[in-house]
Amino acid sequence: MTDASNVLDRVLVLEMVRVTEAAAIAASTLTGRGDEKAADAAAVDAMRTALNTLYMDGTVVIGEGERDEAPMLFIGEKVGSAIGKGPKIDIALDPLEGTTICATAGPNSLAVLAIAEEGGLLNAPDVYMDKIAVGPGYPEGIIDLDRSPSENVRAVAEAKGVEPKDIMVCVLDRPRHEKIIAELRSIGAGVVLIGDGDVAGVIATTNPDTVIDLYMGAGGAPEGVLAAAALRCVGGQFKGRLLFRNDDERARAAKWGVTDLDKQYDLTELARGDCIFAATGVTDGSLLGGVKRKGRVMTTESVVMRASSGTVRWVKGEHRL
Ligand code: FBP
Repeated sequence: MTDASNVLDRVLVLEMVRVTEAAAIAASTLTGRGDEKAADAAAVDAMRTALNTLYMDGTVVIGEGERDEAPMLFIGEKVGSAIGKGPKIDIALDPLEGTTICATAGPNSLAVLAIAEEGGLLNAPDVYMDKIAVGPGYPEGIIDLDRSPSENVRAVAEAKGVEPKDIMVCVLDRPRHEKIIAELRSIGAGVVLIGDGDVAGVIATTNPDTVIDLYMGAGGAPEGVLAAAALRCVGGQFKGRLLFRNDDERARAAKWGVTDLDKQYDLTELARGDCIFAATGVTDGSLLGGVKRKGRVMTTESVVMRASSGTVRWVKGEHRL
């Protein structure tokens, strides 16, 4: 076990929950207030402060944006209390995944964090990513972005021993997904449309308490890496391909070392080696309950999971004001 891996094991697993709890609590004070930017800023500030208490030499590899566009938690920012001497840790974060959800008090807004040993997380540029995900228990390679939505549904249905009409697919409700949605409905599959929050959408494929079998469609690439880190821990399959709308986005990819622009990434190429994923609910959702305030006590629901052990811990917090 390397020094960094040892620290992931012994120190950071539960400490990570403090970080996502802090971000979720800060964002929750602005739930339903219609101000995405303020909610995001509160979460970012709280997450950064909490990250800086952790004993590590951390580098943000997926964050709030590039240095010139994000004042805090920008890509490349060093965080942690042991910069230059502690274990080198790469960090992917989204202090408020689903800013609009939080601002409108909708479902599935989360504070999310994933960490890995240095070099363990894909430095994904902030572009779109075509994604497909399925929960655990299926033969390896059952989903593929080079196959059509109906081919993927048919393969999963066959492996599950059901008809395509018994399969439910979660898709972000966007005009760009009209063709996918029409194709899925044409073969009788059900489509669960979500307004935002595809990290929760992807993770829902692994949760037998939801009706969702598959996730499909394009969303943020950073969210793709975060969701892949979660699936590395709980099982399931995920494929992602970066989508570029212009030369500026292609140049940004090159800057982060992406050479094959058409590559279909597998789970282990997005989140390699040992990694930990943590999330705290901001609003109620399929994965976690949101932050609640009862008198002078705030309650939080979090999950923290680790790839190398497959351990999943559900953490309920009570925070006295
Ligand atoms: P934010 O937290 O940045 O608002 O992202 C919410 C989200 O729904 C993500 O879950 C998803 O990956 C992305 O936006 C989709 O982007 P778009 O809204 O441009 O379709």
